[in-house]
Amino acid sequence: MRGERRYDWLLGLALFLGLGVLAFQGIALVQSFWHMPGVRAEETHTPSPLAQLDRLERGKLVFQAAGCLSCHLARLEPGGPLVGFPIGPSLSNVGMRRDERWLREHYINPHKLIPGSKMNSYAYLPSDELDALVAYVKSFTPTYEPAEEPKLVIPERFTQEQVERGKALFASQGCVGCHMIGKAGGVIGPNLTRAGAHGRTDQWQLQHLKDPLSVYVIGPTDGIPWPMPRYNTLSDEDLWALVAYLQSLRE
Ligand code: HEC
Ligand code: HEC
Repeated sequence: MRGERRYDWLLGLALFLGLGVLAFQGIALVQSFWHMPGVRAEETHTPSPLAQLDRLERGKLVFQAAGCLSCHLARLEPGGPLVGFPIGPSLSNVGMRRDERWLREHYINPHKLIPGSKMNSYAYLPSDELDALVAYVKSFTPTYEPAEEPKLVIPERFTQEQVERGKALFASQGCVGCHMIGKAGGVIGPNLTRAGAHGRTDQWQLQHLKDPLSVYVIGPTDGIPWPMPRYNTLSDEDLWALVAYLQSLRE
């Protein structure tokens, strides 16, 4: 009899402990459903020291720290000066022509979107910094650009006649549909109000008009969707007139 009672007592204790463990597991289970995977990931990964900043402010810092300006021209804030180096395309208005998905994928794996790309991968950036970078570059829109009409400052190597011809071609060839100069034009391509001050050589301008991607990448460029069309059917005279006009857009 005595032995049996001790047995009951042990059984009670085992039941109590068992219930306790179950309850604990239950709470953990509910918690794991409650916190969705994204939130849980953030709990385990040390938050970036930039986390407290506004998303665009954070994107701007990442943009500067990641060295994007060593290859790209951009304005860091609306109406600000054009800064950076003209190795890759100008990023003015790029937010109008590339969506968030393309931008993110392009930072992680530029070679996948543009085979032979000279742009380096930013896959090493923490996910929240990549998001901030995407949001910041997506905000590059016409509001960043100057809206005054440019003064034509013709470099000595070109003639007035060439520049006027180039200006007329800019309208007749549809360039204006994609590019803004002063107050008029489209926003698919970069603002060209100061195209002559972008640091591009005459040869670069000529080659870019004939085959835009060829100035940016090594390797095969056929079949890659690129937003600027080729103007390789224009005569050399017309192409040089366009170059003359572009290089006169300096002030
Ligand atoms: C080593 C030079 C280099 C660096 C650094 C670089 N890029 Fe690029 N980028 C390029 C080149 C060249 C292209 C043109 C296409 C290609 O080759 O990928 C390009 C293309 C782009 C495009 C597409 C432009 C268009 O007209 O559609 C975007 C957007 C872009 N880069 C953003 C960035 C950002 C943001 C950074 C920094 C995180 C960066 N790039 C760093 C060289 C660079
Ligand atoms: C369908 C839209 C479209 C048309 C039409 C177009 N462009 Fe572009 N252009 C772009 C885009 C997008 C870029 C950015 C990518 C690049 O640099 O190739 C660009 C880039 C440029 C640049 C480089 C600016 C810089 O310094 O980074 C110049 C110059 C230019 N275009 C001139 C012209 C001229 C001149 C014409 C007409 C003969 C023209 N474009 C027609 C879309 C267009």
